[in-house]
Amino acid sequence: MSVDQLTSDDVNTIMDRAEFYKGRFKLGKDKKVGGLNGRTMINMFFEPSTRTRISFEQAAKRMGMLVSNIIADASAMAKGESSIDTIRTLGAMNFDVVILRTPQSMQPYELSTFTSSAIINAGDGTNEHPTQALLDYFTIQKLGMDVKNITIVGNIIHSRVAKSNTKLLLSMGYNVTLVGPNGWVPEPKEWNIPEEQYGQLNIGTHLRDVLDVSDVVMTLRIQQERFSDTHRGLIDLKDYNKEYGIKHGMLRDNQFLMHPGPVNRGVEIDEDLVYCPQSVILDQVENGVAVRSAILEHVLT
Ligand code: NCD
Repeated sequence: MSVDQLTSDDVNTIMDRAEFYKGRFKLGKDKKVGGLNGRTMINMFFEPSTRTRISFEQAAKRMGMLVSNIIADASAMAKGESSIDTIRTLGAMNFDVVILRTPQSMQPYELSTFTSSAIINAGDGTNEHPTQALLDYFTIQKLGMDVKNITIVGNIIHSRVAKSNTKLLLSMGYNVTLVGPNGWVPEPKEWNIPEEQYGQLNIGTHLRDVLDVSDVVMTLRIQQERFSDTHRGLIDLKDYNKEYGIKHGMLRDNQFLMHPGPVNRGVEIDEDLVYCPQSVILDQVENGVAVRSAILEHVLT
């Protein structure tokens, strides 16, 4: 449900196993490693998704699992069935694990009381996205021992990616700087960050002021669909790009660029820089499958 539920032992085990799976999932290899043969998983996605859904599906199939997918618009939910009845119905089919993506913050906790299947949170509203944080942590670890300072820039208050990443990275000893326009960055209290970690956390409003000390810049999609549920308003995307977008000449050779996707080209990152030499965006996607295999194994065995 949340990165808060993971001990550092859990995280390290998942990282070690993900390393193993990454080696087995190279192009040209037989990727069916098994390990969870015949176990069952359903992807229950009540919000659009490309990478997270396919990533979980591939992770599970490569482990030998039997996988189903339910897409909100094409399910009985479109006929008015509630999410509680849907999860109960699916529970009766004995899925070992449900992967849940929902626009409603905290819904995975609520639904977990109606099923004995394990639930993995694949993003709940503006709350958390723990598996994204784990794959980002895996990606960051691979960047080398010198990488210590992670700057997360953008629409932080609406970003479950930023919240899960901040909590996980702080607890694993990294320094995190959150940068965004006024009103877009939460108080550490809003995210229940333990006070003893405040020293590792920085908050800024100007990207250029913190760029020098950033080893990684993690950009976030401006989630226009989430601005309606808050009083903290949307600013002009061109203005945003001027102040917070990644542009030519901004990043040093030894800095890294991340983005959970999907990217709004020309807003968070200038058109031709999405796959620049500093970009590890496609590594994040590749690592995602291996990390999710390790997560499924951790949850189910
Ligand atoms: C993100 C999400 O859905 O939380 N994408 C993802 O899962 N990789 C980020 C986003 O939608 O902006």
